[in-house]
Amino acid sequence: MAKDRVKTQFVCQNCGNVSPRWQGKCPACEAWNTYVEELQPRSRAQASSLKNVPSTAIALDAVSTDMMPRLETISPEFNRVLGGGIVLGSVVLIGGDPGIGKSTLLLQEAAGLSRADFPVLYVTGEESAQQTKMRAQRLGLTSEHLFILAETEQESILNVIAQMAPRMVVIDSIQTVYTSLLQSFPGSVSQVRECTLRLIQVAKKDHIPVLLVGHVTKEGLLAGPKVLEHMVDALLLFEGDRDQFYRILRAAKNRFGSTREIGVFEMTERGLRDVPNPSKVFLSERRLETSGSSVICCMEGTRPILLEIQALVSPSNYGMSQRNTTGFDIKRIQMLLAVLEKRLDYRVGAMDVYVNAVGGFRVDETAADLGVVACIASSMRNRVIDAQAVLIGEIGLGGELRAVSHIEARLAEAAKMGFQRAVIPKGNKKHLPQSTSIHIFAVDKVAEALETVLQ
Ligand SMILES: Nc1ncnc2c1ncn2[C@@H]1O[C@H](COP(=O)(O)OP(=O)(O)OP(=O)(O)O)[C@@H](O)[C@H]1O
Ligand SMILES: [Mg+2]
Repeated sequence: MAKDRVKTQFVCQNCGNVSPRWQGKCPACEAWNTYVEELQPRSRAQASSLKNVPSTAIALDAVSTDMMPRLETISPEFNRVLGGGIVLGSVVLIGGDPGIGKSTLLLQEAAGLSRADFPVLYVTGEESAQQTKMRAQRLGLTSEHLFILAETEQESILNVIAQMAPRMVVIDSIQTVYTSLLQSFPGSVSQVRECTLRLIQVAKKDHIPVLLVGHVTKEGLLAGPKVLEHMVDALLLFEGDRDQFYRILRAAKNRFGSTREIGVFEMTERGLRDVPNPSKVFLSERRLETSGSSVICCMEGTRPILLEIQALVSPSNYGMSQRNTTGFDIKRIQMLLAVLEKRLDYRVGAMDVYVNAVGGFRVDETAADLGVVACIASSMRNRVIDAQAVLIGEIGLGGELRAVSHIEARLAEAAKMGFQRAVIPKGNKKHLPQSTSIHIFAVDKVAEALETVLQ
């Protein structure tokens, strides 16, 4: 009945021009394919009659935060990425490539949190209730208080939420949910935006957390409008190579915590397991006697992580030399190769260079520079790097080693993992205590660092 009264319109996302029907080309700004269906705004009289609570401004000091405690999930890694747990009333979007483990993660968290006084609703729009049950059986999950709803129509989902009054809702995935008020297909910009908006209203009104699964397109963007990312409180991205066991959860946005923290998980047949000591895992398959392998230390939020990186340098066969990286920014590697060529006289121009971070890890810290250059040099000269050394330092265009942040935390992690030596920039040395549990080589120049570690 409401359906008959609601009218839709089409709005150009480029210039805001409104039209009663869809148009390929906007007559106002001449942009193509920019029209998106939207619900027509209600009249002012209708809108005010819908509102039953009068608006009042509250002094900042008087605003109560009692309704916003954090909910600790069963996974310390998940809590860490969220900034200490799920904030009640928050909407969290979890994106990731197909098959990376989004449903697995959320089913585990949902089952883990559900109790008699904490019923959880898991809405599955992509799989049937039976398929979800089969996954739960494989993961060894049982719960009388986790309810599965195989539904995609938004109005039905909201009805179930209103009747059941769950304490947490999972929507898997937001791209499958649609409202019959709009004619556009599920997953379209207008559908995703409208359905997310209604779920945000429910989350805020009932103080329940809503976890949404979002799809990632071929280009690595979240399918649906960019505006979706602005609407939610937190956007977590699940990354990793599907063929590898390790998965990394990173916050791309978090209104209630840092976006620097990551969570590390291992995908097993029995589901996702937390990896509380990532350094141990990322070093586990290291071959000490092979050239082209070094150990670096990356800061991920407050946590230092030791990581093996590998390089392979071989003469180019086809005239055009190849540069291939996994887990690194190719532009940074190209800059480091230029420094090696110009400042250290390594003839990398005629070589194919491959650089990998092991375990599907993505390195986006310049403190990794020294480790990268050392493992390229090691592979090129076929000389092994000191297996007991950790390499830390940013490299400048002059071939100098520049100081990095959090040096004490990085060295402490290296010492904890049994490393005996660390090569660090001289600029970091003055901030360190006289005696450290690890032997320190503080150097100025990359050339000096390479002499120290290449055997
Ligand atoms: N029997 C199994 N043994 C081991 N691992 C499995 C098994 N079945 C599935 N997996 C793992 O679970 C992953 C799929 O997880 P899941 O369905 O949670 O991903 P998803 O991100 O929700 O995918 P989609 O985008 O298709 O919904 C697979 O890629 C695989 O790594
Ligand atoms: Mg899924």
